[in-house]
Amino acid sequence: MQIYAHRGSSGLYPENTLAAFLDAAQLQITGIELDVHLTKDHELVVIHDEMINRTSNGQGFVKDLTVDELKTYDFGIRFSKAFQGEKIPLLAEVLEIFSETNHLINIELKTDVVRYEGIEEKVLQLVHEMGIAHRVIISSFNHQSIQIIKDLDPHIQTAALAMKGFADPFHYLHELQADALHISHRAIRNPSIQRLIAQGVPVRAFTVNKPRTMLALKKMGVQAIFTDYPEKMMAYLDY
Ligand code: G3P
Ligand code: MG
Repeated sequence: MQIYAHRGSSGLYPENTLAAFLDAAQLQITGIELDVHLTKDHELVVIHDEMINRTSNGQGFVKDLTVDELKTYDFGIRFSKAFQGEKIPLLAEVLEIFSETNHLINIELKTDVVRYEGIEEKVLQLVHEMGIAHRVIISSFNHQSIQIIKDLDPHIQTAALAMKGFADPFHYLHELQADALHISHRAIRNPSIQRLIAQGVPVRAFTVNKPRTMLALKKMGVQAIFTDYPEKMMAYLDY
């Protein structure tokens, strides 16, 4: 069973911050997951929501703020006073942490609410420039983004994101040119997903924070989990 740190080690550190990724980078896990949006001045930033309200002391949409404006807000304080002063990271800043490690990096394109025209090209350009494209998996709930990615770069690994099971995932993923399925762990028992696993397609489950759930998923042939507590979950596997 492979482990990916979901939004970094987001159980113990503020999600999608350098602190969360620095912790994950020290762990002998398979990889990390992060979420990407585009700022008003077309920079790639790592944050989960379209708005900064939940995770910072600021307000507003990422798409309406420049990087300089975003960097004035505190993305640690709402998690804990101990992380006061933590800034929103650029995608390049997070990737730099992993430039010399062998972790896989799952970049989730958050294009399902705001379209962020051109985000696919920008992400591909950056991961190629940094020489890490072979360790990157690009995923999205917006499956059009997956198609755009594969059209631009047929060699990059992709994954479709889903909350529930759906009809004939094997052929759907094939048509989409998605190499894997990332799906809510609650959907794994769905017969269509069980069939997909039997057909040899990598299925990775989010977000799994209970060791018991992880071990049940392992038995069902799930390749990987995304967890907020990577170090804790590692202890339940034979690393
Ligand atoms: O990529 C797996 C998982 O992160 C998808 O859901 O909402 O946590 O981005 P979410
Ligand atoms: Mg995500």
